[in-house]
Amino acid sequence: MIEYRPLRIALLGAGSVGAQVARLLLENREELAARVGAELELIGIAVRDVNAKRPEGVPAELLTTDAETLILGADIVIEVMGGLEPARTYILQALNSGSDVITANKYLLATHGTELFDAAEQVGAQLYFEAAVAAAIPIIRPLRESLAGDKVNRIMGIVNGSTNYILDRMDTAGLSLEDAMAEATELGYLEADPSLDVEGYDAAQKVAILASLAFHTEVPLDHVYREGITKVTKEQMTSARENGYVIKLLAIAERIAADEAGEQGVSARVYPALVPREHPLAAVRGAFNAVFVEAEAAGSLMFYGSGAGGVQTASAVLGDLVSAAKRHVAGGPGLADSVHANLPVLPIDRIYTRYQITIKAKDQPGVLAQIATLFSQHGVSVETVEQAVNPRVPGEAPTANLMVGTHEATDASLSAVVNSLAASDAVESITSVIRVEGL
Ligand code: HSE
Repeated sequence: MIEYRPLRIALLGAGSVGAQVARLLLENREELAARVGAELELIGIAVRDVNAKRPEGVPAELLTTDAETLILGADIVIEVMGGLEPARTYILQALNSGSDVITANKYLLATHGTELFDAAEQVGAQLYFEAAVAAAIPIIRPLRESLAGDKVNRIMGIVNGSTNYILDRMDTAGLSLEDAMAEATELGYLEADPSLDVEGYDAAQKVAILASLAFHTEVPLDHVYREGITKVTKEQMTSARENGYVIKLLAIAERIAADEAGEQGVSARVYPALVPREHPLAAVRGAFNAVFVEAEAAGSLMFYGSGAGGVQTASAVLGDLVSAAKRHVAGGPGLADSVHANLPVLPIDRIYTRYQITIKAKDQPGVLAQIATLFSQHGVSVETVEQAVNPRVPGEAPTANLMVGTHEATDASLSAVVNSLAASDAVESITSVIRVEGL
């Protein structure tokens, strides 16, 4: 029974996501009304230029350039325009006028999240953002609601589809980074500014959001450690495959146990790492995303699916819209997320991880001992060493390749080992340094 008045929905943005949101909202109008108990009436779509070319299915009569008037007349505002401004201003206007807001804008949330959540809390409105991380994959709601009574200790995810596609093609087809990137560009997987993907900025924004929710702590974007995939080589890929690993761009959010001084903290970081082929994340192929969550009572959980795409992102937006609309019908204030834990976000130096280091060294007596000493001087324990002697080159000193796998140590100690290896006269060159996760 539909007894409640129609709810007025304003849509900001009519790009690939906005067009799909409009289409699904209009096509499924009756079914959505039955689920919510109120009609969801799309009252307008704000765009910069009503005459611009846009995807099929956007009703021209709903387009307007007057976002402010549209926002003032709405019960629920959906922001899918992206970017910081004017998205931030529009969302604040909507929240300040008491409307609930649904956004897919990871960059805005990772940059101005605190300001937006505070504004929502002040007026009892709610900000929904399932679509901001990994599109269609439900990960925000599980962290915000399903696991709200548990203690999440670690999240390790592949949250950028285009880089996963690139690394997967390097792994399975033996492509170079450049060729795999060219393919991803051709398929339209990369952002207009590809560095957002390949330098890890997109994944960093997503992990900042996940870490804040998981650890009830504000995690500023500039505290997220970030390395992209641009230094991953074909040789590293081949070596990974030969040794039972695959290289993935990982987004990791982790609760750090108290150190000797009793300090607890959290870490949020993005980097390419070796993952054992038997780990569930190693099986994530192509442009898919997956998030692996470890919680104290729930154990290990994995969320998998499409992390990008207009219609997939629209699915998450529509899910939020139904929640927001039901809340309107039921009444009561929005539910704020708490950042009460207020844990410090620790720098990469403090994180415990493992390195695999490949070195071209002189093949002569004492070299192995010299190299081993450098590891022990920095308190780093070696787990595995593999040596392959290189073919002799007439007139040159003999050399060998050494692949050293470490036990866990702080990133500071591991990077000090790499620096001292680089300075050592026993070492001709360091050919690969990469972290190992998921063991
Ligand atoms: N550029 C992102 C990706 C999609 O490749 O996963 C949107 O987050």
